[in-house]
Amino acid sequence: MKDRIDTLRQQLDHHNYRYYVLSQPEISDREYDRLMRELIDLEEQHPQYADPNSPSQRVGNDSTNTFRQVPHRFPMLSLANTYSMGEVAEFNDRVVKEIGREVEYVCELKFDGTAISLTYEDGVLTRAVTRGDGTAGDDVTANVRTIRSIPLRLRGEGYPPFFEIRGEIFMPHASFNRLNAEREEIGEAPFANPRNAAAGTLKLQNSSVVAQRGLDSYLYDLTSNPMPAPDHFQTLELARSWGFKISPQMEKCRSMADISRFIARWDRERADLPYDTDGVVIKVNAYQTRRQLGHTAKAPRWAVAYKFKAEEALTELLSVDFQVGRTGAVTPVGNLSPVQLAGTTVKRASLHNEDQINLLDLRLHDWVYVEKGGEIIPKVTGVELSRRPTGSVPFRFITHCPACGALLEKPEGEARHYCPNQGHCPPQIVGRIVHFISRRAMNIDGLGEETVQLLYENGLVQNVADLYTLKKEELAALPRLGDKSAENILKSIEASQAVPFARVLYAIGIRFVGETTAKNLALHFRSLDGLLRASEQELTEAEEVGQTIAESIGRFLADPENRTILDRLRGYGLSFEQSETRLASDALAGLSFVISGTFEHHSRDELKALIEAHGGKNLAAVSSNTTYLLAGAKAGESKLAKAKKLGVRLLSEDELIKMLGDAPRPVAEPEPISTETESAPKPQQGFLF
Ligand code: IVH
Repeated sequence: MKDRIDTLRQQLDHHNYRYYVLSQPEISDREYDRLMRELIDLEEQHPQYADPNSPSQRVGNDSTNTFRQVPHRFPMLSLANTYSMGEVAEFNDRVVKEIGREVEYVCELKFDGTAISLTYEDGVLTRAVTRGDGTAGDDVTANVRTIRSIPLRLRGEGYPPFFEIRGEIFMPHASFNRLNAEREEIGEAPFANPRNAAAGTLKLQNSSVVAQRGLDSYLYDLTSNPMPAPDHFQTLELARSWGFKISPQMEKCRSMADISRFIARWDRERADLPYDTDGVVIKVNAYQTRRQLGHTAKAPRWAVAYKFKAEEALTELLSVDFQVGRTGAVTPVGNLSPVQLAGTTVKRASLHNEDQINLLDLRLHDWVYVEKGGEIIPKVTGVELSRRPTGSVPFRFITHCPACGALLEKPEGEARHYCPNQGHCPPQIVGRIVHFISRRAMNIDGLGEETVQLLYENGLVQNVADLYTLKKEELAALPRLGDKSAENILKSIEASQAVPFARVLYAIGIRFVGETTAKNLALHFRSLDGLLRASEQELTEAEEVGQTIAESIGRFLADPENRTILDRLRGYGLSFEQSETRLASDALAGLSFVISGTFEHHSRDELKALIEAHGGKNLAAVSSNTTYLLAGAKAGESKLAKAKKLGVRLLSEDELIKMLGDAPRPVAEPEPISTETESAPKPQQGFLF
C-alpha cells in the first residue's frame, strides 16, 4: 500500500509541476482530481504514512496558524531605487569604478508582491519566513505549503543539502479579480491591490483559505555554502531544474544599452503580464564581484531597482481635509472626484505640505494629476492648467489645528506644520496609543484604532500608560465590546510586558526613532537608565544616530510628562533593559576586538553583541591589548595604521563568523514574543557567503 501512496505522490508532484511551474499540463483536471482523490483516501485509511510534504497537503488545514517570529540567518535587505536611466548609469559607473572593469549583469522583473525566504534541507521545504523587519519575520510555512508553484520536495539532483532561496509571493490578476468579486458579493471590503492581497493572504490563520486564493511565486535569490555555481544566472538555472519557478524574463546584460533595452521592453510589455511588476532589478551576475562590492546596512551595492513610472490619472480636486498625525504633523489630503487608477478607484490623495501646494499653485476645483506611489494614499503630482476654472484663488493653508484649535507651528527648515499641543490634541493622543499597540511595537492585538478611539472618548485612556490600568468591567461596558473581547484585550496587554526593550523603545514614539534606531540604541545603551544617563554627544555614538535623532531623544526624555509615563510603564513591568544574551559559547573567551568600518551581514552593534555573547570583549580603541581589529569596508585609516604598528591582526566579518564555528548564534533582537520555545538554530558556520 505504501508503494501505491508513493507512486501517487510522485505522479501528483510531477503533474503539479507541469501545471503550476511550467504551465504545460499533461493530463486533464479531471484526471488530476481522480489521482488526488485516490491519494487522499489512501492516506485517510493509512494514517501511519502521513507526510506533511504530500501533495494532498496543498489544500491546507483548518487549524489556527500562529506565526512564530523567527530570525533570518542573514538580513533580508531591500534594494536602492532608481527612477531614470541616468541613475542606472550612475550605479553602473560606481560598480565599474570599484571593480576596475565592465561587469556582467542579470536583469529581472521586479515582482510586486511580498518577499519570502524558503529553507530546504535534504531537498524538502522546512521553513518559509516573511521579510518582517529584515532581521526577523513570521514563520508562514503552513500557508506557503499550499502555494502550488513552490516545491515541497525538490526534483532532479545536485541541490545543496541545506540552502535558502528567496523570492516573491504574489497574487496574479486573475486570482485577485476573483477574490475581490467574491468579497464584494459578501459585503467585505475589497483589497486595494494584488500586493496587499498577497501579503494579507499569507498572514491568514487558516491555511485552507490560503490554498483557495491562488497565490503564485517567482524565486530570485539562492544562498548556500558553497554556492552551486559561480554566478547568479547559472544558480537560478539550476534552481529551475530542481523545480522552482524562475522567471523566464531573466536576461544577461553586458552593457548599458542591453539594460536600457530590457527596461524599455518591459515598461511596454508589462501591461500584458498576468501579474503586477513595478520595475526591473539589475544585479551583478558573478558572486565574486558581488563580494567585492559588498553592501550597506540596507541594500546590496551590487544591485539596484529601476522603478517604472507610476500610472497617472486626471481628476477634479473637490475639497481639502487636514489630518493630524501622532507627531502633530498636519497633512493636507485632497478629496477627489473618484477616478480609476491602475485598477483601483481613487478618491483621496496626499497634498504633502504647504510648500508643495504653493509649488503646484493648487486651487480648489483644479483638475489634478494623481499618481500611485508605494504608499496606500496616492499623491497629487501636477495641475492641468488648461482646465483651471476662471476666478479661482490660491489655496490658503490653515493656521490653527483642525482638531484642537491650537496655533500651528512650522519649525525652521521643515516643510510641515505641526500642532504643538501634544498633551491635549485628541488625534495625537490616539495616534500615539495606536502606534504603541501596533504589531511591530507592543503588539497588543486585541485593540485596534477604533477601540482606542472609543477608550479615549470614554475617558479611559489619556496616554499609553493608562492601558495598563484598564479594568475588565470598564471595557466590557463599552459599546460593541463584551466580556470576551474585554478579556482578550486585557490578556494581550498583559502579554506585552514580555516585549523586548528595543521594541518598547520604538513603541513609546520618540520622533525619528524607528525600529532600526531603537534596536541600535538598545544594543548600545542596554537600558532606559543607560539612555537617560547619556549626553547628546554620547547618544550619537550609537550606530546611525546623528545630531537630529540625538536631540529628539534628549528632548523626549527631558519632558516631565514623558518621564512620568516612562516611570509608570516601568512600574507595570515593561522591559526597560536589554535582556542579556545568554553566553552562547566561550569561543572568543580571552580575545578582545576593536570594530571599524561597515560590514556585509551585520551592523557594528550586532557584531559587538555577537562578540560578547561568545565571551569576547569589545574595546573602543586599538592598543597593545587588542587581539583583533575587525575591519570592514571603509575602516578608519588611523585604526588600521595603529593596528599595523602594534602588530594587531586584522579580521574580516567572515573570519569572525568562522571563529564561532558551530557555536550557536544568538540573535540579539528581536526576541520571539510567543511563549513557544524556539528550536535551536542550525549551525551556520560559513553559511554567509
Ligand atoms: S533581489 C538583496 N529580485 O523588491 C536583494 N528583489 O526592494 C534582494 N523584489 O524585498 C532582492 N522582484 O521583495 C530581487 N527580481 C527581484 C525582485 C525583488 C521583487 C522585491 C523584494 C525585495 C524588494 C526590494
